[in-house]
Amino acid sequence: MLQHEQEAQRRRTFAIISHPDAGKTTLTEKLLLYSGSIHLAGSVKSRRASRHAVSDWMKMEQERGISITTSVLQFNHRGSVINLLDTPGHADFSEDTYRTLAAVDAAVMLIDHAKGVEGRTRKLFEVCRMRKLPVVTFINKLDREGLDPLGLLDEVSNTLNLKVVPMNWPIGMGRDFRGVVDRRTGMAWLFSTDSHGTERATLQQMPMTDIEPVIGERLFAKLQEELDLLNTAGDDFTREAFLAGDVSPVFFGSAMSNFGIEPLLNYLADDLPGPGPKETTTGEMIAPSCEKFSGFVFKIQANMDPKHRDRVAFVRVVSGHFVPGIEVKIARSGETVRLAQPTTIQADERVFIENAFPGDIVGLYDPGKFRIGDTLSIGLNISFAGIPRFAPEYFGRLTLEDPLKRKALDLGLEQLAHEGVIQPFYPSNSGGRMDTVLGAVGLLQFEVLRERLKHEYRVQARFEPLSYRFARWIAGPPEAFKWLAERKDYIVMKDRTGRLVLLSDSPWPLQYAEKNAPGLVLHEVEPI
Ligand code: G4P
Repeated sequence: MLQHEQEAQRRRTFAIISHPDAGKTTLTEKLLLYSGSIHLAGSVKSRRASRHAVSDWMKMEQERGISITTSVLQFNHRGSVINLLDTPGHADFSEDTYRTLAAVDAAVMLIDHAKGVEGRTRKLFEVCRMRKLPVVTFINKLDREGLDPLGLLDEVSNTLNLKVVPMNWPIGMGRDFRGVVDRRTGMAWLFSTDSHGTERATLQQMPMTDIEPVIGERLFAKLQEELDLLNTAGDDFTREAFLAGDVSPVFFGSAMSNFGIEPLLNYLADDLPGPGPKETTTGEMIAPSCEKFSGFVFKIQANMDPKHRDRVAFVRVVSGHFVPGIEVKIARSGETVRLAQPTTIQADERVFIENAFPGDIVGLYDPGKFRIGDTLSIGLNISFAGIPRFAPEYFGRLTLEDPLKRKALDLGLEQLAHEGVIQPFYPSNSGGRMDTVLGAVGLLQFEVLRERLKHEYRVQARFEPLSYRFARWIAGPPEAFKWLAERKDYIVMKDRTGRLVLLSDSPWPLQYAEKNAPGLVLHEVEPI
């Protein structure tokens, strides 16, 4: 087997999906701690805090203590190379979060056991389902009182229409939380910790049948009852169903107090799938074993350092072996570009890399030639299907403070739209009196837009929110479009690729149109 094939098989590339405050930052730190990458948990956060402000945009990130950018953490565990793609976690998240899911082979769905399935988790899960990604569930904060674990599993299963199978089961919760039982082996992992989560928790492993004297009669009886119920009434787990995204293995624990991290991490290293083949627009499958290099751009981050006005394009390697200096062809433009200065971002620090294999992410210096969704390859005449756009939920328009800056504004909007900062919508008929409407999936995107227009394009613009809440890509036969065109109360605009999009303040007109316009289909995700 060739080196790049062997290396590809060791890769485990995933992202954590969760609602803000479920504990993603904490869990990320603890996965690093348990893999031996850092010795004291907390260093991800403290590094973030002590980092120098390299641009106003980054300053904005720091002032608010939020993470707008996506970084990639790479670490080793049990012979696997784990790529954890971090996603913006604040309530004002952006399309980057969705796009990151186009670059991973699996996801960890993190749920706060006092809260159950929350809004953001549900949305992100739907993207995983669209991609048929295997999803591992981690139920967090068992050190606090929360929902009854059996009831919670039911809720997860019903809300997401997903089969869930616990791999381990919690022994008690809140103050009584003593550890977990591995359902496959019958071994109990009992925890104790006195270092407030900064070091690995001490662990005692013993057969479940022996733990009654340690955990007490009451907890033991409850545990047995729950396990019996799961064994008789629970769903079955098969690896095929997991890999197809139909069933999710569930782990319980507490990221803060280091309970249950190791079983999760071991599972991620041993059982997540390695990188698979990727389909091209002509239906060809490019396998990681293909010797020729290929990859695609899933994110572009601009001006991390204003002195250099640089942009970094994040590329997911699909096949072959990446080394610095290779010359790749961009499928869209046909241009050949030499890939110098490849970096990977580890714990928010850039590290230069010598090698990358299928499953890895490389951050490339971008001379302004790349766009999101671009295919890069050597000696392969292929294009991977693009990365879909997601319906914005916030809308607004910009008013120029200096009308002479119109050209600069248009240029800025076009370039920033290519980077995926915002989505512009234009009047669908040239006689329309409507302004360009800007859409974003998170409010913060507008602030990033304003800052960047000001600093990079010298354009001062006032942002005015609009009351739309929904955008839907329109599909269907000509009669459907005719029906919409005849209704003056429907706002139809064009996206930047010329596709028609329906905008609305509430869901009712959308439902009415779907019911009454012949053959009309409304898409929440741009169909590609
Ligand atoms: P996020 O990235 O998903 O937004 O969540 P983050 O890790 O920042 O955690 C959100 C809050 O939940 C933090 O508390 C964190 O300490 C807490 N937390 C995370 N895991 C656990 C857990 O297993 N048990 C309990 N009880 N709490 C947990 P905070 O008060 O907002 O911040 P901090 O002062 O602790 O940093």
